Amino acid sequence: MPAETTLVMIKPDGVKRGLCGEILSRFERTGLKIAGVKLLILSRELAAEHYGEHSGKHFFDSLLDYVTSGPTLVLALEGPNAIAVVRKLMGSTRPEDAATGTIRGDFALNVDKNLIHGSEHDFDAKREIPRFFTNSELIRWDWNGEDKDAA
Ligand code: CDP
Ligand code: MG
Repeated sequence: MPAETTLVMIKPDGVKRGLCGEILSRFERTGLKIAGVKLLILSRELAAEHYGEHSGKHFFDSLLDYVTSGPTLVLALEGPNAIAVVRKLMGSTRPEDAATGTIRGDFALNVDKNLIHGSEHDFDAKREIPRFFTNSELIRWDWNGEDKDAA
């Protein structure tokens, strides 16, 4: 199966609460590989572009305040079905709907501080990854060779 790459962000509440290790370990133990990683404070422009589909919604301005309020850990994670696997581990957007055992279900209470972003679809992943990483900042794992045994 060809591997996918997905864009994950541990939002400022997750970084401030010291949850990066806990969240990353949940992804790593599925067998997903880190293809790229960086810690940065999103500019308002970059945040507005990233959440452009929500422009005009009632929560858009507060969402931009939230995601620019401190450092965000941005990850490109790679592996078979990476997009769907990450979304499953994240849990539903609203923490009160997120199952126990998911990141949002276990660690979040409110939709406006729901810890994490993950690309929703292949189309989103393909435009979100270059927003944060150049090609030379990404590692490509060999999913047809020895790395296939990792997952
Ligand atoms: O993050 P996800 O793809 O699960 O949800 P979304 O519907 O694409 O919304 C993007 C983000 O907007 C959410 O993760 C929340 O941080 C925020 N949001 C909010 O603050 N209030 C809402 N009613 C809906 C979303
Ligand atoms: Mg979304």
